[in-house]
Amino acid sequence: MSTWANLGLQDSASPLMEQLIFFHDHALLILVMITVLVGYLMFMLFFNNYINRFLLHGQLIEMIWTILPAIILLFIALPSLRLLYLLDEINEPSVTLKSIGHQWYWSYEYSDFNNVEFDSYMVPTNELENDGFRLLDVDNRIVLPMNSQIRIVMTAADVIHSWTIPALGVKVDGTPGRLNQTNFFMNRPGLFYGQCSEICGANHSFMPIVIESVPVNNFIKWISKNVNS
Ligand code: CUA
Repeated sequence: MSTWANLGLQDSASPLMEQLIFFHDHALLILVMITVLVGYLMFMLFFNNYINRFLLHGQLIEMIWTILPAIILLFIALPSLRLLYLLDEINEPSVTLKSIGHQWYWSYEYSDFNNVEFDSYMVPTNELENDGFRLLDVDNRIVLPMNSQIRIVMTAADVIHSWTIPALGVKVDGTPGRLNQTNFFMNRPGLFYGQCSEICGANHSFMPIVIESVPVNNFIKWISKNVNS
């Protein structure tokens, strides 16, 4: 979860988010090097006194400073494509969760388990426990097993919403009339918080998402308790 003065990305809880952070750092490093070089050249131009009346063109330098940036861009484009296709891969998921966006709450369905389903509303500030997180905690959390491939399918009942968990590198729109899919793998236990990130109306800020990442046997206990009731 993000806390005060946390300007960077959150710690990753999945291999895909780890790759996203690596790519972000890589792209940022190239960006900083270009900015410093161009900034230095522009700054030094102010102090340039040399004038050459006969210098009208330079074929070689034009070739270099056209082709070199294109090569640098390739070093961003190729890892970016690798990551794009990695994010799109569905690796034989063991659990599927369906999440449906509503104005303004999420509802979830565990279609593999006799369709366990429930709504998940934000806990209002005046009803919050002392250890609760304001605007971020929900009444019914999603429970999912760690160290398992999880498929999540997204849709919406009214307007477009977006199911977003920064620590897992998941951000997929739930669109009315469409079923979107993505997958993730949680490599540690814990609580992972997220928020809707598609401007969906007046209470857009108040439809958070909470995942409880638990060991597989705890997940089986939780789901069997809910199937029977
Ligand atoms: Cu739902 Cu924004």
